[in-house]
Amino acid sequence: MLYLIGLGLSYTSDITVRGLECIKKCNRIYLEHYTSILMAASLEELEDFYGKPVTLADREMVESGCEEILHDADKHDVAFLVVGDPFGATTHTDLVLRAKRQGLPVEVIHNASVMNAVGSCGLQLYNFGQTVSMVFFTDSWRPDSWYNKIWENRKIGLHTLVLLDIKVKEQSIENMARGRLIYEPPRYMSIAQCCEQLLEIEENRGTKAYTPNTPAVAISRLGSATQTFKSGTIEELANYDSGEPLHSLVILGRQCHELELEYLLEFAENKEMLQEAVVRDQEYFKPAAWVPPNEEQDE
Ligand SMILES: C[S@@+](CC[C@H](N)C(=O)[O-])C[C@H]1O[C@@H](n2cnc3c(N)ncnc32)[C@H](O)[C@@H]1O
Repeated sequence: MLYLIGLGLSYTSDITVRGLECIKKCNRIYLEHYTSILMAASLEELEDFYGKPVTLADREMVESGCEEILHDADKHDVAFLVVGDPFGATTHTDLVLRAKRQGLPVEVIHNASVMNAVGSCGLQLYNFGQTVSMVFFTDSWRPDSWYNKIWENRKIGLHTLVLLDIKVKEQSIENMARGRLIYEPPRYMSIAQCCEQLLEIEENRGTKAYTPNTPAVAISRLGSATQTFKSGTIEELANYDSGEPLHSLVILGRQCHELELEYLLEFAENKEMLQEAVVRDQEYFKPAAWVPPNEEQDE
């Protein structure tokens, strides 16, 4: 059996009882190690907790060479551990499909994900639109396909969850070109960098999916002992020191319920200013009034 097991957001003990029971009977255990990190636990701590060795699985192992993971999974139990939920944000459907094509049985054991724990900032999950990912810009690569999705969400009043890039095991272009297996130190995007990139693209596009005054909430280290929320305008958050990773950002939509706002104000430096920013943003992005068709004219 191939078990895909969610580890939850932070602690070794965030795993579910059923997840832990499955690990105990597995011969091989892999930890997916490129889309997220378990903030309060090292690899050694996980191995101690499970009483078994754990192999780190990087992007290359999972996406191109998953044969090692699937090898013998018809005879032995194999665990593939994913921080958060196996289907939260990054879906591991490719691995599941490959296993199924080989006739291997697969079982998924779910856990909390950033996709639902984000609700602890006070915004209702029902009011979220498409989630987007913000990648690190380079001198020659500044992708902005996320912009249209934010715009679509905001047009119908919905909040946007922005997931921030992490680079856990990346080669520099030079090392890659020379085939040298030397990896850069891990990097995690901060809230300030994400907001700067948002502002840069808005300035280039100029079509106002949002403005520097659009309210947002920064969410840091969800589910850990140092979980932090900070609400403010995108411009304010571009100067916010969000501390250690992991981070996510939510850009507010127009459909902001008064209870959501009350919750968010608790995380604001200046409550009055944030409240005004929300009212102004809602007014600015209000849709045009609906005009019924003139039936006589149409005839
Ligand atoms: C590609 S997603 C993987 C999500 C994971 N599988 C899950 O279900 O939570 C990783 C991104 O989600 C966000 N994220 C994940 N865990 C987080 C946390 N505990 N606090 C804040 N943001 C988090 C960060 O932006 C991070 O770069």
